[in-house]
Amino acid sequence: MADSESRAGKRYESAEILDFLGQVHHRHDQALTRAFEAAGQDGVPAIQVGPAEGRLLGLLLQMVGARRVVEVGTLVGYSAIWLARALPPDGHLWSVEADEKHAALAREHLRCAGLTDRVTVVEGAAQGVLPSLETHGPFCAVFLDADKAGYGAYGRWAAKNLRPGGLLLGDNAYLFGDLLDYTPAAIAMRRFHEQMAEAFDSVCIPTPDGLALGIKR
Ligand code: SAH
Ligand code: DHB
Ligand code: MG
Repeated sequence: MADSESRAGKRYESAEILDFLGQVHHRHDQALTRAFEAAGQDGVPAIQVGPAEGRLLGLLLQMVGARRVVEVGTLVGYSAIWLARALPPDGHLWSVEADEKHAALAREHLRCAGLTDRVTVVEGAAQGVLPSLETHGPFCAVFLDADKAGYGAYGRWAAKNLRPGGLLLGDNAYLFGDLLDYTPAAIAMRRFHEQMAEAFDSVCIPTPDGLALGIKR
């Protein structure tokens, strides 16, 4: 963001530039390739985070020395691999997934990544599951990536269950371009941003989909 065009939204990246940077900074190994490619097959939607966002999530966890982390929306485990690999050996990720088939595939991908002991895929709708995780808290980071209309409620849960200095992260924070609409999801996502700004030092990182980031005060 350093000239008037890029400030107005022009992006300089290309597929070739992103491919080069991925090769240099965060190459996929076999486990990441498997999980990434499973999204988009067999009726599973290809809605996993991008490789650079996955790497960024991991680096952010490393920066705060995260040990106990919650993810809401596992899909087939791609982002969970990035998150779990950023944890120390005694760290743990609880990843919540409502869809039974997604959860089963995620467990398989995490097993291939050698992360079975470090990740618990908790099956069920987040609204019901999150209270049952409180006994493991307070948490060092919470990453939201499930139903967008739920972000307001999940964000409030995170604000109560994060340690001071803990991270709240929310993918799709531009709501696919619809953030300023009057749909339930848009209203919830705006509320999520506003609540985050009240209790956290916060910003929305301009990834392609918007990644909201807050540090709990
Ligand atoms: N974080 C994943 C992508 C998640 S996609 C990655 O980057 O690899 C969103 C997932 O949220 C889907 O698998 C969907 O089944 C799940 N989901 C949707 N609503 C949910 C809810 N209320 N509770 C838990 N999971 C939910
Ligand atoms: C959808 C969900 C996501 O988390 C995402 O990153 C992209 C799309 C969706 O539900 O369509
Ligand atoms: Mg997402």
